[in-house]
Amino acid sequence: MIDLKGQTALVTGASRGLGYAIALRLAQQGATVHLVARNAEAIQEAAKKIAAETGSTTHAHAADIGDSAAVNALFDAVLKLTPSLEILVNNAGITKDGLLMRMKDEDFDEVIRINLRSVFLCSRSAVKTMIRQKYGRIINLTSIVGVHGQAGQANYAASKAGIIGFTKSCAKEVASRNITCNAIAPGFIESDMTQALNEAQKTGILASIPMGRMGGAGEIADLTAYLASRESAYLTGQVLSIDGGMGI
Ligand SMILES: NC(=O)c1ccc[n+]([C@@H]2O[C@H](COP(=O)([O-])OP(=O)(O)OC[C@H]3O[C@@H](n4cnc5c(N)ncnc54)[C@H](OP(=O)(O)O)[C@@H]3O)[C@@H](O)[C@H]2O)c1
Repeated sequence: MIDLKGQTALVTGASRGLGYAIALRLAQQGATVHLVARNAEAIQEAAKKIAAETGSTTHAHAADIGDSAAVNALFDAVLKLTPSLEILVNNAGITKDGLLMRMKDEDFDEVIRINLRSVFLCSRSAVKTMIRQKYGRIINLTSIVGVHGQAGQANYAASKAGIIGFTKSCAKEVASRNITCNAIAPGFIESDMTQALNEAQKTGILASIPMGRMGGAGEIADLTAYLASRESAYLTGQVLSIDGGMGI
């Protein structure tokens, strides 16, 4: 049984979807959890619900994690509330899909800013504390699309492929300090992001998944909890696909 009692985690994009499921699972395993999203009301609601369900301490923060000043302020606030930070889950992400020839500059830049720059900003802040502690776990949400590419998602795929390079570099840089950095590459998981797909798209996707179903957010949360635990100490710089066999 994974025991995270006495540890503090920060999960970005925790107001719904995978981030919410991850924050809930870490709290269930005993961690104090900081939840982050832009919508203040939604993140407060999520933190309240998780605290009530698990009995663990939660803190809600409204911040745009693609913004450098906002991330500095966020980590200052976190360290005032909790003196240590053992676990960082870089989960927040967006899509702004479109065919390459019609993709607007701002749709490319915004996806890179929120999906990739945020991972750099939050990890940079977190490793300062983790190096001092000589302990840390960084878990980045990439995607099967970052490994294999996807028509209509050049911006999203580039951001998720960037996370993979970032994860491997970060892992090499901090390994000697007892800090691990890994990436999780989900296939298609039931969430708001996949709910936006039309029926024809869903049918096509299901046909390409050997297990014949989409994954559940809880299944991503289970893997995250393992990577966040002391038990995963010798696992670093890896991209773990969790996709029902889709990427085989
Ligand atoms: N769902 C899937 O099938 C799937 C597959 C592969 C990979 N992933 C990856 O898994 C992660 C979570 O996906 P999801 O489907 O759970 O997404 P989601 O349901 O759309 O949730 C996204 C979360 O990120 C937050 N967020 C967005 N922009 C932000 C910003 N600038 N600053 C702070 N928070 C921000 C959102 O809250 P606010 O809008 O209030 O900020 C929300 O809490 C993403 O990185 C996604 O790329 C998902």
